[in-house]
Amino acid sequence: MMKRAAAQAALDHIELGDIVGVGTGSTANLFIELLAGIKGKIDGTVASSIESERRLRELNIPVFDLNRTGPLPIYVDGADEATVNRHLIKGGGGALTREKIVAAASKKFVCIVDESKIVDVLGAFPLPVEVIPLARSQIAREIISMGGLPEIRAGFTTDNGNEILDVRNLDLIDPPDVEGQLNDIAGVVTNGIFARRPADIVIVGRADNVEQL
Ligand code: A5P
Repeated sequence: MMKRAAAQAALDHIELGDIVGVGTGSTANLFIELLAGIKGKIDGTVASSIESERRLRELNIPVFDLNRTGPLPIYVDGADEATVNRHLIKGGGGALTREKIVAAASKKFVCIVDESKIVDVLGAFPLPVEVIPLARSQIAREIISMGGLPEIRAGFTTDNGNEILDVRNLDLIDPPDVEGQLNDIAGVVTNGIFARRPADIVIVGRADNVEQL
């Protein structure tokens, strides 16, 4: 399966004694399973969500607090969309803020996707924006004035106790610019564009091979 092939190829980037940043989602879950097979090689992990932490602990893989580890050599995570420039949309699973923190702390960000995630221009996937609940309506108005169509993710609370607006219709031709504009709105925690700190490598699982962008 294509996601698994990408997750498997990510193992080649892990070195003896690494503390590995671990992402969230179905592709990251496959990576977690494969990581269990080489857990003797690594010193441990930092998880980007409560769910990934639970899965790692279930497999007896040590999980550390990022405050304790300091910078990480490598972060491995999936994405909802990726371009050949290695710009991403993430946050379909709602873990975008912790994912962005762990990516920022990591020397190398290896993104693992199947070929269905590769796009010419970001934005067909609704862009997740994590918001402080008090600011939700105000932020939605600002996003509408930018041309976006925000929708609250009903019944969902992030690991940080916040809400998610899923935004359609934004022009994402210049991802680093929109990433900054959205994050400048008061009450936005972060948004799911990963362009200012893009992936360093995108591993694309295809039916018969894997490709690295
Ligand atoms: C989690 O918040 C997301 O950023 C995931 O990385 C993204 O949704 C990819 O998930 P899948 O691997 O399940 O497609």
